Amino acid sequence: MRLVKISKIFLDNAATTRVDELVVEAMNKIYLNVYGNPSSVHIFGEDSRDVLVKSREIIAKAVGVDSNEIIFTSGGTESNNLALKGIMHANNSKGKHMITQKTEHPSILKVCSELENEGYEVTYLPVDKDGLINLEELKKAIRKDTVLVTIMHANNEIGTIFPIEDIAKICKEKKLIFHTDACQSFLKVKFNPENIDLITINSHKIHGPKGVGALIIKSGIKLQKQMHGGEQESNIRSGTENLPGICGFAKACSITKQSDVKRMTELRNYLIDLLLKIPNTKLNGSNEKRLCNNINISFKDVEGDMLLFRLSNQGLALSTGSACTARNNKPSHVLQAIGLNKNFIDGSLRISLSKYTTKEELDTAYDLIQKSVKLIRSLK
Ligand SMILES: Cc1ncc(COP(=O)(O)O)c(C=O)c1O
Repeated sequence: MRLVKISKIFLDNAATTRVDELVVEAMNKIYLNVYGNPSSVHIFGEDSRDVLVKSREIIAKAVGVDSNEIIFTSGGTESNNLALKGIMHANNSKGKHMITQKTEHPSILKVCSELENEGYEVTYLPVDKDGLINLEELKKAIRKDTVLVTIMHANNEIGTIFPIEDIAKICKEKKLIFHTDACQSFLKVKFNPENIDLITINSHKIHGPKGVGALIIKSGIKLQKQMHGGEQESNIRSGTENLPGICGFAKACSITKQSDVKRMTELRNYLIDLLLKIPNTKLNGSNEKRLCNNINISFKDVEGDMLLFRLSNQGLALSTGSACTARNNKPSHVLQAIGLNKNFIDGSLRISLSKYTTKEELDTAYDLIQKSVKLIRSLK
């Protein structure tokens, strides 16, 4: 292994990704030339509408749905809020129960607690040591008054991929609405959207801009809008569309290559093999059903925050949990849900790759991590 000096290494791509230059170029053109409001009737509005229509078509094609099923939002968080509140509020006459699982993103779990405060009931399915739910338990949790099931496609901390096509079939048979949060898996894991009623995606995990996403709402699915105003986005999500962002999102979709997934998988496996050479180390999540860019690893008896801090000072950007909750210093709800021992939870790192990640960066990252783990352990 030949180590090259790299000043800064970004291995926190599950939190967000670097925007592709081609995306920036496409967005700049919109900022400078296509600045009309897509709702305006004049020619500037018409040009903007053309871009909006084209972008919607590109994103719809990437997901495998009709373009009129795409509702643009400000990102994954908003899409998840709209999906859960929108469906539960619209279906009070059918029932007030929904099902999710314990390792969902906070933008699902916190909406669930809000709904509980409003009088709805939520079942949180447990997960096994790989982070997967048991489909028999899902079937058993279904009640007469169950309206919605929401299960993420891939977990943002441990990368576990859920069998959403099987879950969608169960929901279809039981006439339940099924939503999946696909922010982490979009364009990384192929899936058939046929039986899935609602899908959350966002742009900043695929080298697009931050602050833009979509909720796919299949035709025939009724939900209650959460944003009132100018009746944009089929009167489901009011507010002037973020055209440069949407155009950038579409560009990011159109330039994503399957070969990147293969390359990331190889690099991920390369780094996992190296890291597991460090004594008392454990890989969290599933070996096989794992996102191509995710490594979640625990070093026994190592203070994770100290490790992260040391690595950050040396130019290596990683995370201990999801970026959204990393600052609250609470132990990861995901690692707790998979039953990881506290000795291991404390010393866990999430390392997430992107299409820009190189083998040289991983060699340097490994060198820094193993030295820091050794040093921190020696201080005990
Ligand atoms: C699984 C998952 N859902 C939702 C979100 C929230 O998306 P956004 O940052 O676009 O609001 C994220 C991103 O952190 C995520 O990883």
